Amino acid sequence: MTAEQTQPLYEVLYCSTLAQNLPPTTVGAIVTRARARNAEQGITGLLVFDGMRFCQHLEGPRDAVDSLMRRIVEDPRHVEVRVAYEAPLARRRYTGFGMGLAESEGPDLMAGVHALDGEVALRHFLALLPSFDING
Ligand SMILES: Cc1cc2nc3c(=O)[nH]c(=O)nc-3n(C[C@H](O)[C@H](O)[C@H](O)COP(=O)(O)O)c2cc1C
Repeated sequence: MTAEQTQPLYEVLYCSTLAQNLPPTTVGAIVTRARARNAEQGITGLLVFDGMRFCQHLEGPRDAVDSLMRRIVEDPRHVEVRVAYEAPLARRRYTGFGMGLAESEGPDLMAGVHALDGEVALRHFLALLPSFDING
């Protein structure tokens, strides 16, 4: 039996800011590695990057999400990691791809999510999804 069948799902939405003085290949490297690892762990979701800020929405078995978040919080490639929303999840929201990457045009959209908290932040993020060009 897979972890998916035995463990309830959990979701986390967090925001962070890219650390300074990193090569331009940083985000691509994060996503390539994340896709391989997340597939093994049953994690799906979306990473949005606007050139400065990240927002990532993760979903999967609770233990896998918790352990990934512990690694992410410690990752020196970004700073000011702040969890905006986390809760049990009935059904996956991202089924078409493992970890999508969307490059958000202009800083305003992500600034909005960064300023919000809790369910308001989640709803704001979900409302933006149709405007993203997602590379899955
Ligand atoms: C913004 C951001 C998003 C990340 N997303 C993921 C992710 O979805 N999955 C993942 O495994 N690692 C992700 N990472 C990388 C982790 O922090 C960590 O470096 C990685 O999981 C370690 O994997 P490794 O020990 O196999 O190299 C992310 C890092 C950053 C800065």
